Amino acid sequence: MAEQNGQCGGLCGSPAVIVVALVAAIVLPVSGFCVAKLMGGKQSGDLGEEAVLRRIQPAAQVALAAPAPAAAPAAGGAAAADSGKKTYDAACGACHGSGAAGAPKLGDKAAWGPRLGAGVSGLTANAIKGKGAMPPKGGNLSLSDADIKAAVEYMAAAAK
Ligand code: HEC
Repeated sequence: MAEQNGQCGGLCGSPAVIVVALVAAIVLPVSGFCVAKLMGGKQSGDLGEEAVLRRIQPAAQVALAAPAPAAAPAAGGAAAADSGKKTYDAACGACHGSGAAGAPKLGDKAAWGPRLGAGVSGLTANAIKGKGAMPPKGGNLSLSDADIKAAVEYMAAAAK
């Protein structure tokens, strides 16, 4: 599942993905139940039927939630955008939300337009080393370069 989620670009919500999710929804809890039951037999009744049901309950609930098309995309492509927004909210919004110190504001097409010409990689490089009144990494040096890139992508997307 993890690999599928990773490449969940435009694929989520396609019939194939839903079929896979449905099959997983049925097969996983059932096979989990069987395995647990087999093991339960050998472990001197340690795993009663009720205990088994309690154990597989989370898997069954996840499986039930999985086929909903709205829930699926959150795992893949949206996760990157989400981390960019988190970094922005935590480390960049103080200046870029208000335009403090002359920072180009989030979603301000006029302020971002000329800068976007540098591309995400060029803007990321400037954000990492700092520019004008902006300190390197917005002053938050614990952020990784990938965090900065995700935040820049979020800001660039908001200005388009
Ligand atoms: C202390 C205020 C401040 C914080 C915090 C801050 N910025 Fe900035 N940022 C600025 C200012 C001011 C500019 C305009 C710099 C200039 O063009 O002289 C700027 C410009 C930028 C640019 C455009 C660079 C270019 O090449 O034109 C990017 C991209 C950017 N910031 C990303 C970020 C990211 C990502 C964060 C959070 C990790 C962040 N900034 C946090 C003040 C800030």
